[in-house]
Amino acid sequence: MNLLVTGAAGFIGSHFVRLVQRVRPTWNVFIVDALTYSGNESTMVDLLSAGARFFHARIEDRAAIANIIEENAVTHIVNFAAESHNDRSLQGSSFLTSNAFGVEVLAHLTKEYKLERLLQVSTDEVYGSIAEGQFYETTPIAPNTPYSASKAAGEMVCRAHWKAFQTPIVVTRGGNTYGPYQYPEKLIPFFTVRLLLGKKVPLYGDGSQIREWIHVEDHAAGILAALEHGILGEAYNVGDDNERENRETVQLLLAATGQDNALVKSIEDPRKGAHDARYSMNTAKLRSLGWEPKVPFDRGLTETVEWYKANTSWWSELLNNASYQDFIRQFYGKSLGADL
Ligand code: DAU
Repeated sequence: MNLLVTGAAGFIGSHFVRLVQRVRPTWNVFIVDALTYSGNESTMVDLLSAGARFFHARIEDRAAIANIIEENAVTHIVNFAAESHNDRSLQGSSFLTSNAFGVEVLAHLTKEYKLERLLQVSTDEVYGSIAEGQFYETTPIAPNTPYSASKAAGEMVCRAHWKAFQTPIVVTRGGNTYGPYQYPEKLIPFFTVRLLLGKKVPLYGDGSQIREWIHVEDHAAGILAALEHGILGEAYNVGDDNERENRETVQLLLAATGQDNALVKSIEDPRKGAHDARYSMNTAKLRSLGWEPKVPFDRGLTETVEWYKANTSWWSELLNNASYQDFIRQFYGKSLGADL
């Protein structure tokens, strides 16, 4: 297989390539990444030494991606490239170019070059929030933030391509994912690095929102299962039946970092009405392909914190970045004040 993985300088994409290189060593892997703020060359060092070839390009750049497909006889694409942080989307950044138009470019090229499969990595957030019960793949889509709306738009492009042209596309919808190499703006890595530095962490509201956490290696394995065995035109939920209130996750992080509640600052919820109260997915469909999650949350979280402790140079470089500091200052300046 000649596999093009987009967004592999980012969190889940890099783990997916690591997994492929371990369990499918005969596949040729090509990486495309725009190296925006959350895509980091230092995340790919081991992937490139293991033989993956890197191309610096945006997925919206049709000519560039077409060249890469042609020159490397690409047969499959897995698309991780995306803008993915809700808070940045609520701050006003538009994600539609990458998350919808970029997907359309990949879908067109999949059709034009008669590729065997495009796997679009999406999110459980396209369903919106659910007070009770679970999201099934048949649950209507009802996104609540500009970010999740842009991911839903990407999915609509995939659906329409499948219906109109039978372009071979499979979609995965992943839950909240954690593990090494996650950019320190999402809850777990953001809180981890701040707690390791002895800084206060901003808990939105009372922290009663529920997230369903899955370890990144389990998420990557779910995507591989869908790539190899998923039915074309179908979507697959990738979750771990591991629902936790944010305040519980924060307690686990305090324990793993050796800190206490004095460092937790409850702030007025910046997401307001767009803050989804609960996600919960039914994953029987993906499990029927032979996949199951393996990493228990307590162990996965402790090991993740250990990784951040052992890899301070990876994240301190990111923390020193001017655009990261700008975002943190703009988004948390008022609520954290002197604790910023
Ligand atoms: O469910 C899948 C989604 O999970 C992915 O599609 C998104 O790309 C990913 O960012 C994540 O979305 P969330 O918005 O749930 O993740 P985040 O880590 O930003 O927030 C998790 C919860 O923690 C959420 O209820 C908000 C809360 N939170 C987050 C941050 C960054 C805080 O209380 N304080 C914070 O500083």
